[in-house]
Amino acid sequence: MKNIATIILAAGEGIRMKSSLPKVLHNICGKPMLEYLIDNVNSIGMDKVFAIVGHKAGLVKQQIRGIKCITQSELLGTGDAVTRARSALLKDNKIDNVLILYGDTPLLSQETIKKLIEKHVSSNASATLLTAQLKNPTGYGRVIRSSGNKIVKIVEELDASIYEKIVEEINVGVYCFNKRALFYGLEKIKPDNKKEEYYLTDTIEVLTKSNILVESVSTNDPEEFLGVNTRAELGKAELVMKKRILDKIMDAGVTVIDPNNTYIEQGVDIEKDTVIYPYTFIENNVKIGSNCSIGPFARLRPGTIVGDKVGIGNFVEIVRSSIGRETKIRHQCYIGDTIIGKNVNIGAGTIVANYDGKEKHKTVIEDNAFIGTGTILIAPVKVGRGAITGAGSVVTRNKNVPAGKTVVGIPARIVYKNRRK
Ligand code: UD1
Ligand code: CA
Repeated sequence: MKNIATIILAAGEGIRMKSSLPKVLHNICGKPMLEYLIDNVNSIGMDKVFAIVGHKAGLVKQQIRGIKCITQSELLGTGDAVTRARSALLKDNKIDNVLILYGDTPLLSQETIKKLIEKHVSSNASATLLTAQLKNPTGYGRVIRSSGNKIVKIVEELDASIYEKIVEEINVGVYCFNKRALFYGLEKIKPDNKKEEYYLTDTIEVLTKSNILVESVSTNDPEEFLGVNTRAELGKAELVMKKRILDKIMDAGVTVIDPNNTYIEQGVDIEKDTVIYPYTFIENNVKIGSNCSIGPFARLRPGTIVGDKVGIGNFVEIVRSSIGRETKIRHQCYIGDTIIGKNVNIGAGTIVANYDGKEKHKTVIEDNAFIGTGTILIAPVKVGRGAITGAGSVVTRNKNVPAGKTVVGIPARIVYKNRRK
């Protein structure tokens, strides 16, 4: 969509979040809110994307590298924020229309954005906005229509009269504007409202008063237009996103025994016929093969890659590690920065001591090894193919266990030749 630019507003502080982190950087299922919007517009082929940044701009920019950022130095409202993009948009003659999104509306779907753009283009309107019907519209801008059902204006909650407050059609905060109409409207708005801000929403009345066509598209999925302004709303968004992720995973052939008590973040791949037991927490950037059994009460952290037919049981934590196929790690273990081969048995209570207080070190456990109950492996260390560690042994750093040997004790020493291969 070469002739449509996108502007994402992300300059606000998010005062109601009561946070030192800018609102748009708060995570939802392990991914910052703002990135959901960016990924969506990228996926629908929008290639001219600008973010308006302001509050803690450095932090926001760092998170969204690759996106052009324009700074709004004083937070004078959503209208002022869009005005900051004026020169960038006007100097590009190929841009005819501008899609505007708010960085705190992360649940919006690609389909709805596409629907809005299609309506905007086909109706040849100067502005098209996304609206929704809400039984409890508190907090949102209300869409005011004429008796002929034409959009007249948007009124913010704080400025709404009692008659306007009962209107149930709300402004979702997603718009497509003709570029010229947008800047025509923005030049005319004034901060004559309770917050004394320049409201982007006021441009709608400027346009309708000049008899310029304003259209709308509706969505009735309340999960989609949730604006995240408070921690409670962040919690709601988390629940919606969590359900979407679990539905997608189950749809791919994974059994989730108790979806209400399973937490899977964005960016997790699980192959079919794997079963996830309750109270399992799988963080972003984790891959799990097919026919595995995970949990209950397992925690898989970023950088974990699990092969097929692996069993990971209760109270097992794994981070930055790969687990070969048919390996079993059933009970109370910590595995960090470790490469584990195929068909390994990790006994109950095994701990990989990967951190020496300054640095993290790697551990390797080769195919068919048998790690006895309560073994401590002090990294960096390697346990060779088919080797065995006795219950309670402490394998000290760099004291690699040769393939096929058995070690026991503290510190672990070789005791006898082993038959395992
Ligand atoms: C806004 C809309 C409201 C709509 C609601 C939907 C306006 C005036 N109101 O209200 O009609 O129903 O969203 O969720 O637009 N921002 C900036 N710079 C600023 C101010 C805000 O970049 O100077 C950004 C914020 O970071 C945020 C977005 O704009 O991502 C929306 O601002 P917010 O203050 O949350 O607006 P609402 O009061 O929710
Ligand atoms: Ca908001």
